[in-house]
Amino acid sequence: MAEPPSTRRRKVPGRKLRLVRPTRRPSTSTDGRSDPAAPGARPVTEPVSSSVGGTYQRQSERPEDWGVIAALYDIEHPTCRGDEARFWHDRATEARAVVVGPVLELASGSGRVCLALARKGHRVTGLELSSSMVQRATARSSKLSSSIRDRTTWVVGDMTDFSLGDGTFSLVFVAFNSFWLLDDAGQDQCLSMMRRHLAPGGRIIIDVFPPTVQDYTDEDAITQFLGRKWHGRSVLRVKDYRYLIESNEAISDVRYYSTDRDPRSPASMIGQFRYTLHPELSERVEARLSRAGFTVIETFGEYRGKPISPDSTRAIFIATVTQPD
Ligand SMILES: C[S@@+](CC[C@H](N)C(=O)[O-])C[C@H]1O[C@@H](n2cnc3c(N)ncnc32)[C@H](O)[C@@H]1O
Repeated sequence: MAEPPSTRRRKVPGRKLRLVRPTRRPSTSTDGRSDPAAPGARPVTEPVSSSVGGTYQRQSERPEDWGVIAALYDIEHPTCRGDEARFWHDRATEARAVVVGPVLELASGSGRVCLALARKGHRVTGLELSSSMVQRATARSSKLSSSIRDRTTWVVGDMTDFSLGDGTFSLVFVAFNSFWLLDDAGQDQCLSMMRRHLAPGGRIIIDVFPPTVQDYTDEDAITQFLGRKWHGRSVLRVKDYRYLIESNEAISDVRYYSTDRDPRSPASMIGQFRYTLHPELSERVEARLSRAGFTVIETFGEYRGKPISPDSTRAIFIATVTQPD
């Protein structure tokens, strides 16, 4: 799996994309804190719980972990359904009512949201940095009926720098906090890409969490058991969290252990990774959208459709390209 954009900004535009076509056969292969549960991230070598001289220790990489992390992501977030699925279906339907064109999800992971949309009849393209994630998305869609599968296209690419055809899509969106994986410059580049790929009259959506006091507070060993098993054993997720105010970096170091909850048999570590978020208040998101040439036409504070308020769980911005006066 590739590193996140925050650790390697690219200067060269027009990076090559790899198109992954769905095949018939599958390939072999929260804590209360606003957690993106996002392996947009890099693996680390050691469990991290150290704060040295106020600077959170960065760890080196272990790229072979990425396949495991992608698999664990699916255990943690298996499907998009209920209010979340309805929300994306309604937004895609609205966009298609005004503009002809498929839907594009950026940072689509293993296809959770794209597949929910394809099942509802939308043509979707998922662009994702991690090839492990794209392999999983391809395998998932290959198990579905050919009509659903044929509505999906999977692409390995970077949401800050890609080319899938200017003016193509009726809706371009970044779901489930992945926009926060980008730093300041990355967010601006991503918006510029979204604008370029939007058909005239099309819409973009940024779906993030609104930061709370908790998101600015360090905490060690935030633990939870995941709802699904790993090879028959329970999965314990342990997270250390640091917020660096000077760089607006929210760093999560996550370890996963498999355990049978019997104190006599030790837990064993399955995988570990780090992700860094750059959360911002809603006013700043709106200002960024405006600078990028967008007008916000609607906001939502959760997937059921309530507007943003101080106790919202989501901050969702729907925008169109600003028309000249
Ligand atoms: C929280 S997951 C979200 C996946 C999916 N949208 C979902 O809702 O399940 C974040 C994803 O963003 C991907 N990602 C991180 N940086 C990216 C980038 N610059 N371009 C494309 N994908 C990226 C990660 O690899 C990861 O799969």
